[in-house]
Amino acid sequence: MSTSISYSLKSKNSFAVEATTQQLLFPSSYEDLLALPCFDQNEFYILGEGSNTLFTDTTAPIIISPNFTGIEITETQSSYFVKVGASENWHNLVQYCISNRLYGLENLALIPGSAGAAPVQNIGAYGVEFSDFCFEICWFEFESKTVKVLNKHSCQFDYRESIFKSSLYNKGLIISITLKLPKKWQANLSYHGLNSLPSSATAEDVMGKVIELRESKLPNPKKLPNAGSFFKNPIVTLVKLDKLKAIYPEMPFYPQADKQVKLAAGWLIEQCGLKGYRMKSVGVHDKQALVLVNYSSNTGKDIVDLARYVQASVNEKFAIKLQPEVKVVTASGEVMFDNLEI
Ligand code: EPU
Repeated sequence: MSTSISYSLKSKNSFAVEATTQQLLFPSSYEDLLALPCFDQNEFYILGEGSNTLFTDTTAPIIISPNFTGIEITETQSSYFVKVGASENWHNLVQYCISNRLYGLENLALIPGSAGAAPVQNIGAYGVEFSDFCFEICWFEFESKTVKVLNKHSCQFDYRESIFKSSLYNKGLIISITLKLPKKWQANLSYHGLNSLPSSATAEDVMGKVIELRESKLPNPKKLPNAGSFFKNPIVTLVKLDKLKAIYPEMPFYPQADKQVKLAAGWLIEQCGLKGYRMKSVGVHDKQALVLVNYSSNTGKDIVDLARYVQASVNEKFAIKLQPEVKVVTASGEVMFDNLEI
C-alpha cells in the first residue's frame, strides 16, 4: 500500500484550502485493508475525491483514501447490475453507463466526487437520489477485518443521510457499490427545470439538460473552489411552513412524508441579501446562494466564519438553523459544525 509522510491535502479538497497530514494511506486491495493499522475512531478520516470536505485546521488527521477501481456489468432479464470500485469518478461512471445504453443515472450527471462517496451522503439532484438505484454496498469492517454486503434497506438512506454517516461511521470503508438499473427506462422529468424537455426525451437529452443546468448555476470547483451545496435544505413542520408562508407567500417548499416540508436553503440565504456576498477572500456564490466559494483563501477557517455568518443571518430572519451538508474535519477528526471550537 502506498503511504506518504507529511502530505499536503490542498489538491485533494475541492475548497483548495491548505492542510497537511502525517499519514496518507491508499488501500487498493484486500491485503492492503488487512494490513491497515487499528486507528482510534477519531484519529483518521476517509477521503474520496474531497469534494464534500472542509479542512478547518492547518493539520488534518490520518487520511485513508481508498483506491479501488473497475466497473463490471451483469444482467438479468429485467435489470443491469453495475458493480463499481469505490474510487471510480461518479460522473465518469454516469457517462460510461449512458454511452453503453444503461440508463437511469442521467439526472445525477456532473455531481463531483467518487462512486464510493455517493452512498455515504446519498447524493441527489434533479428529482433522483443514489438510493433509487442502489442494489448493494461492499464494505470492509475494520474490527472483524471482513467484507460485509449491505443491501439498500440496510443502508438506511434518507435525504443526504445513510448508515455510513451514523452507526457505521469510521467503522469500515466502502470498497464497491452495485447499482441496479431497470432495463425498462422512463425519463424522470419531475424536477423544475427539466419539465421544459418533451416527454419523448432520451436519457442523453436528460443528461445534456442536467449538465447545462448545473453548469449555469454551480461553479466548477477546478476554476472556483467550492464543495457544492454547503448547507442541507432544512426540513420543517407544516405548522412552521404556515407561519413562514403568511409572511413570505412566494417561498418555495417541497412536501415530504410525515407532515413535513423541505425548504430551499438557497432561497432563504438569498432573502438575507447574501447572494454574491464576500467576506475576506471567500464568498456566497452569485448564481446559487447555497454554494460557498473560495476566491483565494488558504485556510478553511475563512469558510467557517462565512458559514457561521450565513447560518446566523438565516436564523435571525427565519428562526431556522441551517446545517452543513459538507463534512467538517479538524486536526482531531470530523466534528459537527456546531461543535467546532475555532
Ligand atoms: N433558490 C433561490 N436562490 C438561490 C438558490 C436557489 O431562490 O440562490 C431557489 C430556486 O429558485 C428554487 C429553489 O431555491 O426555487 C431550489 O433551488 P435549486 O433547484 O437550485 O436546488 P437546491 O435546493 O438549491 C438541491 C441540491 C443540489 C442539487 C439541486 C438540484 C441540496 C443541499 N442541494 O439544491 O445538490 O444539484 O437541488 O436538484 O439538496 C449538492 O448537494 O452539492 C448539490 C449541488
